[in-house]
Amino acid sequence: MKMNRDIKIDIDNNIQLRTLKKNNVTEKYVAWLNDYEIMKYTEQKYFKHSFSSVCDFVEQKYDSENDLLFGIFSNYTHIGNIKLGPISWEHRSAEVSYFIGDKYYWGRGIATKCVDSIVKYGTKVLLLEKINAGYYELNIGSEKVLKKCGFCIEGVRVSDVVFEDKRFNLILVGFVPKL
Ligand SMILES: CC(C)(COP(=O)(O)OP(=O)(O)OC[C@H]1O[C@@H](n2cnc3c(N)ncnc32)[C@H](O)[C@@H]1OP(=O)(O)O)[C@@H](O)C(=O)NCCC(=O)NCCS
Repeated sequence: MKMNRDIKIDIDNNIQLRTLKKNNVTEKYVAWLNDYEIMKYTEQKYFKHSFSSVCDFVEQKYDSENDLLFGIFSNYTHIGNIKLGPISWEHRSAEVSYFIGDKYYWGRGIATKCVDSIVKYGTKVLLLEKINAGYYELNIGSEKVLKKCGFCIEGVRVSDVVFEDKRFNLILVGFVPKL
């Protein structure tokens, strides 16, 4: 399926999602990816990110037929990302992942609004019939976000991830739109 590349979704008066482009890459964005506190419950913590690696990533996602990478903007300031992808057009399903990079914006309901909006876009515009996500069992914030957006627990990968030298479960959740 050919996707519209340049998408803007107004979530409310302040928060907007926009397809990320190379010119959105800033040192601030690169620093979020290298910040342990932000990335500790994601696999990004195992990589050292640079301006050029992030530009390559953004460009690759922009060109991909199977991914939509959005920046989350608050009053036109980039504060985080949300990605719908990889999308399986065959199965009409996709993964969703996200982070709020600017910690000032944590706990203000923004991730919940963004996930909700991406789920609506995926199911109503792209006609996807399944959205999947996963989180470390320790990530209470993400657990709450996904639950509030209607995701249900579908599986537990027991002792699947290492966090600070201890093993933890990976929780697999999914959203199926109501007919
Ligand atoms: C997890 C994360 C996305 C939550 O984003 P957010 O915008 O702060 O989430 P919301 O404000 O929508 O919060 C939803 C709920 O979770 C709660 N919450 C958010 N962060 C929390 C935390 N660290 N600990 C406990 N509860 C938390 C909120 O209080 C809210 O609860 P409520 O509905 O009972 O009021 C954000 O902290 C983040 O980007 N973390 C780093 C990256 C990451 O972990 N990404 C997800 C990987 S699976």
